[in-house]
Amino acid sequence: MQKIEAIIRPEKLDAVKNALADAGVSGLNIVHVTGRGVQKGVIHMGRGGETYEVDMLPKVKIEVVVPDAQVDKLVNTICDAAHTGRIGDGKIFVIPITDAIRVRTRERGDAAL
Ligand SMILES: Nc1ncnc2c1ncn2[C@@H]1O[C@H](COP(=O)(O)OP(=O)(O)OP(=O)(O)O)[C@@H](O)[C@H]1O
Ligand SMILES: [Mg+2]
Repeated sequence: MQKIEAIIRPEKLDAVKNALADAGVSGLNIVHVTGRGVQKGVIHMGRGGETYEVDMLPKVKIEVVVPDAQVDKLVNTICDAAHTGRIGDGKIFVIPITDAIRVRTRERGDAAL
């Protein structure tokens, strides 16, 4: 099992959620985060021409734990759905998970996902 943590643009959340549902993923978490990447935020131009810097931008983190065999496919699914081609499209981390337990039945591993 692996946890895919995908940090994406908030406006892409619905597209990514729908794409994951179409790919057969049911369980997931959505976390609203603020973060920054390589550009360390962005410079905005105010109405009067003044500039101001926004250090941390709102993003959405999708956490989904999936069987090893599905990781590559789902990473591609997320990339396709979240992509605009502009800076700030997001980032995906893949983290090993040692076990999962469904509390109701005590099923473990992939069977608990
Ligand atoms: N190294 C990192 N560790 C943890 N979170 C990160 C890291 N890099 C980016 N993030 C998170 O991902 C979000 C989106 O990052 P972003 O898409 O701007 O990455 P980038 O590396 O700057 O790529 P790009 O040049 O396409 O903008 C950030 O706002 C932050 O929440
Ligand atoms: Mg960036």
